[in-house]
Amino acid sequence: MNQKTINIHDKHFAPFIKFEEIDRAVAQIADRMNKELRDKNPLFIAILNGSFMFASDLFHKLDFPCEITFVKLASYSGTKSTETVRQLIGIDEDVVGRNIVIVEDIIDSGLTIERVLTQLRMIGAADIRIATLLYKPNTFKGDYAIDYVGLEIGNDFIVGYGLDYDKQGRNYKDIYKIVE
Ligand code: IMP
Ligand code: MG
Repeated sequence: MNQKTINIHDKHFAPFIKFEEIDRAVAQIADRMNKELRDKNPLFIAILNGSFMFASDLFHKLDFPCEITFVKLASYSGTKSTETVRQLIGIDEDVVGRNIVIVEDIIDSGLTIERVLTQLRMIGAADIRIATLLYKPNTFKGDYAIDYVGLEIGNDFIVGYGLDYDKQGRNYKDIYKIVE
């Protein structure tokens, strides 16, 4: 196994995307936002935990009036069914009529964002855009547009730059891919 491989719990991960490449992708998204969102005073809504690093690096590259808030999807079991409900918590700003940009670390099946979209629409957000650092097009099942994509990747499980494997691995600057 190569020297730079990292071990988390029972799994091995090999170097996949260097920070320099991540940073270029973030800068490209920021450049577009600096043009397209300049006069919209958008509210960025970053989905915790995974998106904290991307949200931070993206946000300090923006040079127009904007706001940011952080939310979490809390899982709890409904009282009458065993089905797990994932409720958006932490929305305290007034989203009614606002231009929203959802900030996510990675979109895989697309289900997480679908739930966030439904809940934001329900409380009256005006225009909702989606920004994700990473996108897995082969597994995406959503029927909504993703406005800002940093990098498209394959189906492999990855860690680093905010992304975890069972809570570990978020601290790495580069992104690593699982070794099967
Ligand atoms: P989705 O709902 O299937 O789109 O999954 C989105 C969420 O699953 C992300 O916010 C991540 O927390 C997690 N996720 C998806 N793929 C990966 C991965 O490769 N590594 C770590 N977390 C992932
Ligand atoms: Mg996430």
